[in-house]
Amino acid sequence: MDISPLQQVRYAYQPKLPPILRQSITSVVPSSGEATQTATDQEAIKALFPNTYGLPRVSFVEGENKDITKRRNIGVILSGGQAPGGHNVISGLYDALQAANPDNTLYGFKGGPSGILEDSYQIIDASFLETFRNTGGFDIIGSGRTKLETEAQFEVCAKVCKSHDITALVIIGGDDSNTNAAVLAEYFLAKGHGIQVIGCPKTIDGDLKNEFIEISFGFDTATKTYSELIGNIERDANSAKKYWHFIKLMGRSASHIALECALETQPNICLISEEVEAKQQSLVSIVDSIAKAVADRAADGNNFGVVLIPEGLVEFIPEIKTLIEEINSLLAKEESTFNAISDSNERIQFVQDRLSSKSKQVFTILPEEIQKQLLMDRDPHGNVQVSRIETDKLLATMVETTLKQMKAEGRYTGKFSSMTHFFGYEGRCAFPTNFDADYCYSLGYNAFLLIGGGLSGYLSSVTNLSQQAEKWNAGGIPITMMMNMEVRHGANKPVIKKALVELEGKPFQYFAEHRDNWARTTSFTYPGAVQYFGPTEVCDRTTVTLALEQGL
Ligand code: FBP
Repeated sequence: MDISPLQQVRYAYQPKLPPILRQSITSVVPSSGEATQTATDQEAIKALFPNTYGLPRVSFVEGENKDITKRRNIGVILSGGQAPGGHNVISGLYDALQAANPDNTLYGFKGGPSGILEDSYQIIDASFLETFRNTGGFDIIGSGRTKLETEAQFEVCAKVCKSHDITALVIIGGDDSNTNAAVLAEYFLAKGHGIQVIGCPKTIDGDLKNEFIEISFGFDTATKTYSELIGNIERDANSAKKYWHFIKLMGRSASHIALECALETQPNICLISEEVEAKQQSLVSIVDSIAKAVADRAADGNNFGVVLIPEGLVEFIPEIKTLIEEINSLLAKEESTFNAISDSNERIQFVQDRLSSKSKQVFTILPEEIQKQLLMDRDPHGNVQVSRIETDKLLATMVETTLKQMKAEGRYTGKFSSMTHFFGYEGRCAFPTNFDADYCYSLGYNAFLLIGGGLSGYLSSVTNLSQQAEKWNAGGIPITMMMNMEVRHGANKPVIKKALVELEGKPFQYFAEHRDNWARTTSFTYPGAVQYFGPTEVCDRTTVTLALEQGL
């Protein structure tokens, strides 16, 4: 058997589109709203984007659209980390492009943005696409983290596009990739290259969202996949009653994934990085609060539990954040000297000797493994690769030490045995849920309509997502309107604002109301595996986060 039975039946799934996109493609036209502006930094961003600042929001309505049938070649790029549904964005884009004109051609640039720079591509046709529909992964053309940001790169992109008569690019990526898409769109307009650029909001992290982009694709599937695993572990913990499980959950910076999983599974503890930062909680105080919860449950005879930890936590703990910032700039400044050192202990010493006295103090109390992890290679954006820092182990070890101390002082009488886990890559290529399959297909289909409308510098947008697809809307949002100015690597740059967990928002508020109860009692809930066939309230259910945000 070459393919699994599920794979076989998912090929045949027909994703649902918003009603307006179900019309014949020649009967849908963009309708422009008012001119937009950014929430902050208007003048600075306007100056940087003279051609794409202030564009109107667009929604699709019924109307005759003859121009859409014009023959076109379009390029597509998958950028950054995998997210379930990427194949469906490409499927939707392809189906729209074919519906408009069967002579249209889709070029998939291979291996991420580097594919366009190297002119490495795959022509995506119906038979090639067939075995990727409704499946997870980005293996259709591959992805990568090369950044398209310099003028020299933009010129190569233009040259490659022109050599294939490509007049539009669709970039499927997160906040950084879509920021770069906006810069590219602006550049192409300024230079008169005649190449449109449209973005699609991707990332399991769920941090590319705002009033107009309700959620990035992949978040729904990834959180459901992790929640199934967490629920299974909770049930195991409640059966054996002998382990505390420390589970780190992917999500580079924001804690949306951890929060959604907590809402789905009601663990004993879930740390939220944004709250840690807001309350300026130190590492020691976090450890103390976990140890207290363990001791309280032990007093009730429950020597087991589950702790969820967002991947980005360390960067939100004030003293560790400062430490990481110091290491980042040190490694950027002394890159070649540091890279010339091969021995890991010497590397640690090199960094330690150059830290401020406060950061040195913090660095030295960390276990050696964590010190090494903090010095590992940066990603192409210069960030620490937080998915490789074992915060789960760090916290489990420190909690154990604290509990020993508490025991010696007679403040704790239970047994503590921990297990650590990291759920990240397990969720990024899962078969997309019906929600992500539908949403992604719609985003791709919609991206083509934005191209057909002659637009550039827009993010494909499908909204009203907590409702069934029958009530979804479709349109486009100018990327510039989501931008603000931020200091990145020492320079003030226009970037799409990353959406962190809002402590005043309904999802966090709901969690905060219930967490004390969940901490002391065993209130676990077991979401089970993602279902593709069956009652709609089971199969098409959206995230708790989205439902709470939209007041359901
Ligand atoms: P994107 O923002 O590119 O979608 O990637 C998200 C992510 O999965 C993070 O959650 C994680 O920290 C990171 O990618 C891991 O990166 P890599 O795939 O390079 O190990």
